[in-house]
Amino acid sequence: LNGVTITGTGFYVPTSLLTNVELAASLDTSDEWISQRTGIRQRYIAEASTDTSDLAVAAAAQALSRAHLSLEDVDLIVVATSTPDYAFPSTAMLVKQKLGSRAPAFDLSAACSGFVYALSVSSDMMKSGAYHNALVIGADKFSKIIDWQDRNTAVLFGDGAGAVVLQSRPGAFPCFSLLGSEERGAEALTSPVTGPITMQGREVFKFGVRIVESMLTKALETLNLSIDDIALIIPHQANIRIIESAAGKMNIPLDKFFVNIENYGNTSAASIPIALAEAMEQKLVRSGDIVMLMGFGAGLAWGVQVIQI
Ligand code: ACO
Repeated sequence: LNGVTITGTGFYVPTSLLTNVELAASLDTSDEWISQRTGIRQRYIAEASTDTSDLAVAAAAQALSRAHLSLEDVDLIVVATSTPDYAFPSTAMLVKQKLGSRAPAFDLSAACSGFVYALSVSSDMMKSGAYHNALVIGADKFSKIIDWQDRNTAVLFGDGAGAVVLQSRPGAFPCFSLLGSEERGAEALTSPVTGPITMQGREVFKFGVRIVESMLTKALETLNLSIDDIALIIPHQANIRIIESAAGKMNIPLDKFFVNIENYGNTSAASIPIALAEAMEQKLVRSGDIVMLMGFGAGLAWGVQVIQI
């Protein structure tokens, strides 16, 4: 079986910044409440004319350029999203068309776990040798499914996209993923296709803390690795307190976890690839490092991936 590595990362957020203070001008909330309870200080919101596929294309173009890979060599495109432009064609087909590629392309829907699910599926398709160079993208425009009068959810989310180039490399670290879901909890976080989002915040929060801890333990045990073998843990950015709580329970220093929720809010399927791209830019992760990516969210679904950069 071929190993699979990430050879390029990229991300894109829209230009329109929405701070907590601005949000509080039209909603019964405050900068203090949002930042203390969630860690979020600001998020970016896309214009009406910018859809999920546009965010995805911008992130993908950056990842391709950083991987020094030409578009003709891309033979697979997967977009994780729960806010597609249309029911069909898939967002991935629109991305493919906008980029000018002929690769097979499809969407994958697993909410905030979507990017890890997409990486897992793509890397399995590549391990056999059938595909060699994949673009795996997480992109969401939650602003179009938010009820802006609902303070329980409106303060949490932002728009954005992140992308990675995944390449098969014989002899590379055999990337590992573990996916799962809870028996119950589908009703804890929902959105009809056109929104709005409804959420049992406390339930999702408790699930997040429990599952981050359990994913980390299971992944390390299965791979017989210690935490020191992992250069950086990149968890889904839902709430800083979920990350702090899991880190505290496991006695792992918080700086082992990458956190950028203060700048972007929860960008759903985009949060992990945006965080990974930023961690690369900040040189917290270098070529050859092994990283652990952890997704969790609506479903209630979860997924962890251990992969080499
Ligand atoms: N501003 C001010 N007050 C608020 C706000 C707000 N934006 N939102 C809720 N409150 C109030 C509530 O009404 C409540 O008031 P009450 O005590 O008078 O009833 C009080 O604050 C406390 O509310 P809780 O819901 O208990 O607050 P909690 O500390 O649990 O924080 C939060 C709420 C931030 C939503 C938290 O539960 C959370 O982050 N949950 C996880 C959510 C999440 O990550 N969702 C996305 C998952 S990823 C995916 O798949 C899309």
